[in-house]
Amino acid sequence: MIILEHVSKVYNGSDKKAVDDLNWVIEDGKITGFVGPNGAGKTTTLKMITGVLAPSEGRIIVNGHDIQTNGLAAKKEFGFNSDSPDSFLRVKGIEYLNFMADIYRVPVEKRQDFIEETAKRFDIYDSLGERLSEYSHGMRQKIMVMGALIHSPSVWVLDEPMIGLDPKGIFTLKEMMKEHVEQGKSVLFSTHALELAEKLCDKICVISHGRQQYTGTLEELQEQNPGKSLEDIFLEITGD
Ligand SMILES: Nc1ncnc2c1ncn2[C@@H]1O[C@H](COP(=O)(O)OP(=O)(O)O)[C@@H](O)[C@H]1O
Ligand SMILES: [Mg+2]
Repeated sequence: MIILEHVSKVYNGSDKKAVDDLNWVIEDGKITGFVGPNGAGKTTTLKMITGVLAPSEGRIIVNGHDIQTNGLAAKKEFGFNSDSPDSFLRVKGIEYLNFMADIYRVPVEKRQDFIEETAKRFDIYDSLGERLSEYSHGMRQKIMVMGALIHSPSVWVLDEPMIGLDPKGIFTLKEMMKEHVEQGKSVLFSTHALELAEKLCDKICVISHGRQQYTGTLEELQEQNPGKSLEDIFLEITGD
């Protein structure tokens, strides 16, 4: 579970709030979508949840640990996949995964089982010996997701994870998300694609211009706006 209380962010040198007073509980056992147009504040929020950025105001608790005052304990609870998979380009796929597994002290047998199973599901098993610079964007995205999940974190935080993935990759990642929440654990992912949220999410939070516009289920959102398509509702509440 992740709890956000009055979370705001003003970037250095900026006079506006990139994220403005977010109050949100991300529940266990659910896939939660963080939906909003480009520049809405999704990445900024996910970086605050995972301790990459410090909030200007407010508090974030991950499975009972405050990310600011108890960062190490909080960081053991989640796996974070950032929106830019273009790092570590000189290392081979397998080296990257072992590097991540070393950081999180994943026992050898456990990591080998995870790598074999997940790389095969993602169709990149045969490419693990190649350098990431030789990977396509989608293959890099897959290996980064694997690196984020190699320590079996209970909370998944994925920033636009479907971008660049082929249809089978998208299908596989969706299946993995569903399997994860079926075990009572949590998945939070951001997307600007409403269709994806519509198909996959138990709960959504819609953000635009840094402000939380709606938090709840898609069904409730639809009920509150009878006769309108979700797309129209979405465009209305995000002000576009
Ligand atoms: N490093 C930064 N410095 C200053 N402003 C930033 C920085 N990163 C993002 N922003 C601004 O914060 C706002 C939210 O951006 P972001 O969180 O990346 O949105 P999203 O992920 O929803 O597309 C935007 O107005 C963006 O220009
Ligand atoms: Mg973003």
